[in-house]
Amino acid sequence: MKGIILAGGEGTRLYPLTKATNKHLLPVGRVPMIFHAVQQLTGAGIHDIMVVTGTGHMGDMVRCLGSGEEFGCSFSYRVQEKPLGIAHGLSLAEDFARGERVVVMLADNIFGASIRPVVENFTRQVEGARVVLKKVSDPTRYGVAALDERQVVNIEEKPQSPKSDFAVVGLYCYDEKVFDLIRKLAYSDRGELEVTSLNNQYIQLRQMEYEIFDGKWMDAGTPESWFEANRIFFEEGN
Ligand code: G1P
Repeated sequence: MKGIILAGGEGTRLYPLTKATNKHLLPVGRVPMIFHAVQQLTGAGIHDIMVVTGTGHMGDMVRCLGSGEEFGCSFSYRVQEKPLGIAHGLSLAEDFARGERVVVMLADNIFGASIRPVVENFTRQVEGARVVLKKVSDPTRYGVAALDERQVVNIEEKPQSPKSDFAVVGLYCYDEKVFDLIRKLAYSDRGELEVTSLNNQYIQLRQMEYEIFDGKWMDAGTPESWFEANRIFFEEGN
């Protein structure tokens, strides 16, 4: 199993904090935000990790993370020239994955408990993909899952009228065919290859499983949620 950390994007919602640096290098607790994703993956037994980021701050990213020796893992790096979406960023890792399954993390997603059980459940899955859901009070900010008793029936990206209050968090597990499925995607109205469209392809194949994350979770991509992530680390000692 290979790990992929997506750390691209412009960080516009955190501007001007992101004027001179990548969002994922801002602190959360005592470490840069991206360290949390690295620690989650290594803690789940994944030690071969590709980091994808834009041209603007790749140098700082490499300076910050290095070879991986410090974390007991090995990093590969790949540049995403333009912010063309999460599925596009993932597509850049095809050669790196070498036909193995992948666990993908968005570097601004902070988990208050280990993701190891999710990865273990995925290992037991025969094929397909696995998404992780969390109940939220503001679903319009996220990919939102519509559920029946047993499965995810559809995911909508930032819907105005959400069908549930279950956000799809930025942790995705995919089998070997993910790169073939990405090739079938069309760019969305906002000019991106959407992870939600990719996940809906797995749903159509009836190969999408899900679980609800049992722990704190947040997307630290806005000033409020970034502050909240820091508050939790300092006040609750996570
Ligand atoms: C992205 C995904 C969205 C997901 C969210 C989790 O949104 O597109 O489906 O729920 O990450 O953090 P973004 O934060 O890039 O707008």
